[in-house]
Amino acid sequence: MTFKPAKWPRKLRSQKWFGGTSRDAIYHRGWMKNQGLPHDLFDGRPVIGILNTWSELTPCNAHLNDLAQRVKHGIYEAGGLPVEVPVFSTSESGFRPTAMMFRNLAAMAVEEAMRGQPMDGCVLMVGCDKTTPSLLMAAASTDLPSIVVTGGPMLNGYFRGERVGSGTHLWKFSEAVKAGEMTAADFLEAEASMSRSPGSCNTMGTASTMASMAEALGMALSGNAAIPAVDSRRRVMAQLTGRRIVQMVKDDLKPSDVMTRAAFENAIRTNGAIGGSTNAVVHLLAIAGRVGVDLTLDDWDALGRDVATIVNLMPSGKYLMEEFFYAGGLPVVLKRLGEAGLLNKDALTVAGETMWDQVKDVVNHNEDVILPVEKALTQHGGIAVLKGNLAPKGAVLKPSAASAHLLTHRGRAVVFEDIDDYKRKINDEALDIDETCVMVLKNCGPKGYPGMAEVGNMGLPPKVLRKGITDMVRISDARMSGTAYGTVVLHTSPEAAAGGPLAVVRDGDMIELDVPNRRLHLDIPEAELAARLADWTPPPDKPASGYAWLHHAHVEGADTGADLDFLKGCRGAPVGRDSH
Ligand code: FES
Repeated sequence: MTFKPAKWPRKLRSQKWFGGTSRDAIYHRGWMKNQGLPHDLFDGRPVIGILNTWSELTPCNAHLNDLAQRVKHGIYEAGGLPVEVPVFSTSESGFRPTAMMFRNLAAMAVEEAMRGQPMDGCVLMVGCDKTTPSLLMAAASTDLPSIVVTGGPMLNGYFRGERVGSGTHLWKFSEAVKAGEMTAADFLEAEASMSRSPGSCNTMGTASTMASMAEALGMALSGNAAIPAVDSRRRVMAQLTGRRIVQMVKDDLKPSDVMTRAAFENAIRTNGAIGGSTNAVVHLLAIAGRVGVDLTLDDWDALGRDVATIVNLMPSGKYLMEEFFYAGGLPVVLKRLGEAGLLNKDALTVAGETMWDQVKDVVNHNEDVILPVEKALTQHGGIAVLKGNLAPKGAVLKPSAASAHLLTHRGRAVVFEDIDDYKRKINDEALDIDETCVMVLKNCGPKGYPGMAEVGNMGLPPKVLRKGITDMVRISDARMSGTAYGTVVLHTSPEAAAGGPLAVVRDGDMIELDVPNRRLHLDIPEAELAARLADWTPPPDKPASGYAWLHHAHVEGADTGADLDFLKGCRGAPVGRDSH
């Protein structure tokens, strides 16, 4: 930790709007005063933007307005001026074709909202999957002092006495209906039990993973990730976050001071320990690209490979975020990593202290939820990065969510050219497929679909499910919900829509998956593969205009984070010309 706080008092960027007696200053201040703000609030104190992803169509964030009031209290208490600013909100459950397509749009919009307006620091109010990385990407690109507070997870779901995890049980129940093991009426009844309070998904899905990543990166106050949305301590966390950002502005503690290479290493290892979502791979690569940290897909394998998955949460384990919180939450996991020599203890956090100072004294209150390492769900958690002629730039698989007997597998390809082709064929009893086959789905990557949808964990054919088989090897360039599970190879790069080898796999080709040796191989002669690639032509339905065009034209591969090429890097927050 080499951070030295800046001198205070000093002139902040908001004073370029609000300071002095010029016509422009009076214009900026005067209009703000229509909200009943006393004159002394413009005296040079930190102006804090509360960037709020509240939206009634982002149900996981629909309670953030209430929480924002707590953040405001904290900012006022610490002597700042809070301004609540609604920003682009990307709902995982509702946005079509997929929220991922809009992560970069949200990041771009938020970045400009931060840079173009009088803010000295920002509270990033996030929750649902993409809201967290998009705002972190924006903060990294402006490098204005920023701190994350998440909305927190929903309470446990229960259906007929059993825990029901967001997403995880949706996939389970829908497969059970297809297999004839659950009635449609029961499925409908289960729906009401899944989401019984405000908050984000209660499994270790992408929202919980990204909340954990924010905390492991040092960008949220310690303990933030797991507090349930409706727990009074969530409000306390919001208020403390409001207090803290004011001091961060005074100290000039910026994202680039916190999100260092050491912080990303901590986050990757944490992802292995919590059994976190594969989505964290693309998000952390994108955030690193914004803050200028050299992070690669290979780092994910090298750093996470031997990290034991000790958090016993769905989809890899059996509990939910509520129990994780009661057990002590992420600080316990970080402490365990530190004790195992797997934590950069000196990494700076938004609290102004090192990560180790934050977690060294915490206690594990439930060893069935945060397991001792000898009882870990797997000794080799983390994300496996596979390479081979089918994925020259890499593909990922989550070993803790996969079936051990399929981690080394050779099987006949059954190919779906795109998601519509899959939907047309999968329930057809005449489809030539059994459990030894490898399901291959194309054209669902960043350019495909478009937007890299979470369809990689494609459901199995009913005739396989009826045999009691629940897993098969599946390969695609898509993503998978963090709440999902299975032996699913994802993010295959280059993607099919960009002419990667995945595009030329044919029915009947043999494919070899060898996770221990990190290999993904299409078993056809090299010359044959080259000839097929030479014959390949891009899918015809390229977007012609609008944001879809911009996204398609500029999105990079999943192997580097699927950011838009022109948004990478830190542009800072210089104050532009006055508009009058
Ligand atoms: Fe919003 Fe899962 S759908 S967090």
